[in-house]
Amino acid sequence: MVSLADKYPRISDMKDKAIKRIPHFAAEYLLSGTGYDRAMDHNQEVLKNIFLTPRYVKGTVEADLRTKLFNRTYSTPFGIAPVGMTSLIWPGAEIDLAKLANNKNIPYTLSTVACASIEKVAPHLDGKGWFQLYPPKDKIIRDDLLKRASDNGYEVLVITSDIPASSRRERLRMAGVSVPPKINFRTVFQAAVSPFWSLGVLKHGMPRFGTMDKYQKSQGNNKIKKGYAGSQMDRFLDWQYLEEVRSIWKGPIVLKGLMDSRDALKAKDYVDAIYLSNHGGRQLDLAPSPMQVLPQIRKELGNDYPILIDSGFYSGQDVVKGLMLGADFVMIGRPFIIGLAALGSKGAEHAHYIIKDEIENIMEQVCAVNIKELKNQKVSTGKDFFLNYIEY
Ligand SMILES: Cc1cc2nc3c(=O)[nH]c(=O)nc-3n(C[C@H](O)[C@H](O)[C@H](O)COP(=O)(O)O)c2cc1C
Repeated sequence: MVSLADKYPRISDMKDKAIKRIPHFAAEYLLSGTGYDRAMDHNQEVLKNIFLTPRYVKGTVEADLRTKLFNRTYSTPFGIAPVGMTSLIWPGAEIDLAKLANNKNIPYTLSTVACASIEKVAPHLDGKGWFQLYPPKDKIIRDDLLKRASDNGYEVLVITSDIPASSRRERLRMAGVSVPPKINFRTVFQAAVSPFWSLGVLKHGMPRFGTMDKYQKSQGNNKIKKGYAGSQMDRFLDWQYLEEVRSIWKGPIVLKGLMDSRDALKAKDYVDAIYLSNHGGRQLDLAPSPMQVLPQIRKELGNDYPILIDSGFYSGQDVVKGLMLGADFVMIGRPFIIGLAALGSKGAEHAHYIIKDEIENIMEQVCAVNIKELKNQKVSTGKDFFLNYIEY
C-alpha cells in the first residue's frame, strides 16, 4: 500500500483532493483572498524568494525542534492559526484540530467565530489552548468571552487587530458564501455532490457560531441578513481597549495582524508578543507580506521580544525561512484545513507531519542542532523585496 507520505509528500499535493471533497462554497471560503487575491498570492511569492546558505562539516546532526514560548516548551516552532467557521469547511474541524494540537504539543488557537464553542473544545486542549478574540465593541460581551475562555483553561489570548472593517471578499460573494450558511438550491446541490462533507454535517450538525450564538439576541438578527460581511459582530480596538483587556486577562496576550513597525513598537508596552499577519491575504489586498516587514520590526523590537508570524506558510521550508528572518514562532492556517478537507483528521495529522519532517530534514542538511543554530545560518533573498518606504 502506498503511504500518505508517498502519495501526498507536500501540502500542495492534497489541495486538489480537498477541493473535490468539499462543496464549492466551502472551498472558496477556505482558499480565497480578497480583491484580486494579490496579497494572498504575493505571500507565497515572497517566501519563494528567500534562500538559506548551508554550513557543513559538523559531524552527524540530530535536529531538536523544541521551542519555548510563554513559559511552555512546544515540540515544534509552529502552531495552528485561528480559522473562523472551520466546520463549514470540514464538519467537526475544531475538535479534530484541538485533539491534534494537544497530541503533538503545539498550540491551537480557537477563533471567536468558530463553530464549536469555547466550552466544547476546552476538554480536548488540556489547559494548553489559545483563544482568539475579535474584539467586540460591546464590552459586556467582551468581558463574558474573556471569562469563558479563562474559566475553561485557555492560557493565551490572541487579539486580532486587522479587521477594523469587513473586507469585500469578492470570490465569496460569487460563490454565494454566507455565514451562517444559507440553505438554498445552490448550496444543497453543492452539498449533495460532496457526500463526505454532507455525512459530516449529519454527524456534527449544521455549522453555526458555537461561542457567539449566546449573544445573538443582543447583536440583533438583522445583521445576519446583511450576508457574510455583516454577520460578524461589531468590532472595535484601540490602545485603551487593550489596556482594559490587559487588566482582565491574567495570561499572555498576543496582538495579531500588526504590520507597521510603529504599531509593533507601541504594542510592546501593552501585550506580551506581536503576531505579524495579513490575515492570509483576506483583508487588505494592498498589504505587503508579513515577511517583508519582519526583519525591520525584529531590528526595532530587539531580540528578546516574541514575534509570531503567519500568512502563506505552506511548508517546513517556509517555517524555516520565517524563523531565520526573525520570527520566534510560525502560525499556519489553511494547510491544516486542506489536510482535513482532503483526508479527514488523518489529513490534518499528515499536514503536521509534512511540515515537521521538512523542518527536521532542513536542519539536518544545514547541520543545525536546534532552532537557535538554525537562526544563525546565512539567509538571502533572490530579489530586493524588503519594502523601501517612500519619504516625501
Ligand atoms: C477560512 C479562514 C478563516 C479565518 N478566520 C479567522 C478568524 O476567525 N480569526 C482570525 O484572527 N483570523 C482568521 N483567519 C486568518 C488566519 O488566522 C491566518 O491569519 C491566515 O489563515 C494565515 O494564512 P495562511 O492561511 O496562508 O496560513 C482566517 C483564515 C481563513 C483562511
